[in-house]
Amino acid sequence: MQFSAEFAAEFEQLLRWRRDVRHFRKEPVPEDLFRHILATACLAPSVGLSQPWRFVRVDEPGRRLAVRDVFRRCNAAALSAQAPDKAGLYARLKLAGLDDAPIQLAVYAESEPAQGSGLGRATMPETVHYSVVTAVHTLWLCARVHGIGVGWVSIIEPEAVTAILDVPQAWRLIAYLCIGYPDGPADEPLLQRAGWEKRCDPAALILAR
Ligand SMILES: Cc1cc2nc3c(=O)[nH]c(=O)nc-3n(C[C@H](O)[C@H](O)[C@H](O)COP(=O)(O)O)c2cc1C
Repeated sequence: MQFSAEFAAEFEQLLRWRRDVRHFRKEPVPEDLFRHILATACLAPSVGLSQPWRFVRVDEPGRRLAVRDVFRRCNAAALSAQAPDKAGLYARLKLAGLDDAPIQLAVYAESEPAQGSGLGRATMPETVHYSVVTAVHTLWLCARVHGIGVGWVSIIEPEAVTAILDVPQAWRLIAYLCIGYPDGPADEPLLQRAGWEKRCDPAALILAR
């Protein structure tokens, strides 16, 4: 397979415009498109081809409210832990789209998947979790290609969310995602625009030995 120069340029645009989205329109995402995005996420690499990702769609209003309460509690705790010079800015940040996103998706890792027969993870069992992160990123990019935004919410207690969702205790929560049509385009990370943090020079992240 050869990719064209145009595709390469567009692919880079995709990476630049992916964005973590926290402002959503309430308009539903077509079911077949969402299914397509999930199927595409399953093309992600995984240790031993174990495909340890498990997608839990959170639709029930009671469970959604309970997750939102967990977020609010954790976010309040994070706010109170901020240094005085950062607390005001932190309080103004929007750090989740849990009220508006039409789709909420908890992405789990099955920690001991039978698929793959353990290949590649004897010395690094955490590669099961890394594999699920690759699926999340694949989902994120595929969604963005179709105009759908994804926001990753990590200001939650995984054990509390796992209890709310009633999934096996042995599964590990990797990501809680808000998914839907973005409310407005964004060409730079919200944290950068808000003055919280900015992207650094890639050269500073590359070492030679
Ligand atoms: C593992 C992970 C956890 C994250 N958790 C949150 C979160 O809880 N709330 C939030 O608003 N953004 C969260 N983000 C999004 C980051 O803030 C965002 O990716 C970063 O600021 C860069 O912005 P961009 O994704 O729009 O390029 C998370 C991202 C990752 C990869």
